[in-house]
Amino acid sequence: MALDLKQYIASIPDYPEKGIVFRDISPLMADGAAYTEATNQIVSYARERNVEMIVGPEARGFIVGCPVAYELGVGFAPARKKGKLPNETISASYSLEYGTAELQLQRAAIKPGQRVLVTDDLLATGGTISATIEMVEALGGIVVGTAFIIELTDLKGRDKLKDYDILSLLKY
Ligand code: PRP
Ligand code: ADE
Repeated sequence: MALDLKQYIASIPDYPEKGIVFRDISPLMADGAAYTEATNQIVSYARERNVEMIVGPEARGFIVGCPVAYELGVGFAPARKKGKLPNETISASYSLEYGTAELQLQRAAIKPGQRVLVTDDLLATGGTISATIEMVEALGGIVVGTAFIIELTDLKGRDKLKDYDILSLLKY
């Protein structure tokens, strides 16, 4: 029987600020079988979409995207917080459930026409993933899907992603 992945998510009230319930994937990552199960579900989704490249935002998008890229034998490009990437980059600003930020992607990361999967641990307001998608598309990539371990449905990130297919393994 498949694992109940929700059992591997920790919920921490009032972190990092009062009023936020932080959904922590650390116990899932710490358990080999649970991490493998979550990865395999996203790998299947990516295979159905003939994904050629994966892009994930710092930092937890790397945790989700890199094992999927390894399993598929495709590349991974990190969308990093401002000032962390050398060479030519493009930028996108966004607001978060808590705070604002700017992400960057190397211009060389995406080839025009490439079929890209965007990954992150969690979809909240959708700001982070929308900024990541904006950069991928500015470089000519085709976003064929988005994949998350967790979706916080109350924050309606899905509404920002109307033009995109979404896989979320767990909903809160
Ligand atoms: C968290 C999370 C997602 C994002 C979701 O990252 O890992 O990337 O927030 O929120 P949104 O849908 O409202 O944009 P955070 O910015 O805290 O960075 P971190 O992964 O480096 O901790
Ligand atoms: N990123 C944005 N909101 C979050 C939450 N509630 N838990 C974990 N990561 C988050």
